[in-house]
Amino acid sequence: MKKAAIILAGGIGKRFGSEIPKQFAELNKKTVIEYSIEKFCDVVDEMVVVSHIDYVEEIKNRYNVKVVEGGRTRQLSVKNGLDNLSGRNIDYVAIHDSARPLVSKEMVVKLFDIVIEKKAVIPVINSSSSLCRVKDGVVSGYLCREEIFFIQTPQVFEYNLIYEAHKEAYLKNIFDFTDDSQLIDFIGKKVSVITGEETNIKITTKFDLEIAENLIQKGLV
Ligand code: CTP
Ligand code: MG
Repeated sequence: MKKAAIILAGGIGKRFGSEIPKQFAELNKKTVIEYSIEKFCDVVDEMVVVSHIDYVEEIKNRYNVKVVEGGRTRQLSVKNGLDNLSGRNIDYVAIHDSARPLVSKEMVVKLFDIVIEKKAVIPVINSSSSLCRVKDGVVSGYLCREEIFFIQTPQVFEYNLIYEAHKEAYLKNIFDFTDDSQLIDFIGKKVSVITGEETNIKITTKFDLEIAENLIQKGLV
């Protein structure tokens, strides 16, 4: 059984608002992306990092990994990663945002276990807040909290299944799915969920980096 990981670092971190993309921000003496890469190293047979064009060489040199150029959207970046892995007999692939450095290795292993039966599996967490829809400054509806979940990465798939889904979306000129499980749904297949980790936050703003630093320093991850 051959396992691969695609680590996404093709974005520029607009909302993070620093000169260098957030994946290179320092988090307790290491870079954010370094944590993400490390979580997969011992688990997978092949890894490819998808990088923004300006940082391809830097990532190659710094982390000694295979790097391919990213696309205009996250979806297109993933497609480049999948293209790169094609013809290499990959059975299962994990797709992970480098901006989620705190995922545990246990979670990665668990997802690769479950995917054998389920074919497509993602970690999700419940919303602790009540949720509503707002239109023109007033509440236009309420959502059932029990039915709403936040989607995390890594997401793990049968390689052929997720590659087919990506190719189909591409042929239909759809390029802006923000996560890969939506593509499985798009081709009419089921996506299984498992309970994710509250600590597996996505670094989007500087505030998130502060939280991540605290979680590490307090030994909570
Ligand atoms: N990503 C990517 N290729 C893109 C856009 C995003 O590989 N064209 C990656 C990012 O590097 C990140 C992950 O997808 O690891 C999730 O995206 P997001 O958190 O939105 O990161 P950015 O797009 O970099 O941030 P922003 O939206 O604030 O610009
Ligand atoms: Mg983005």
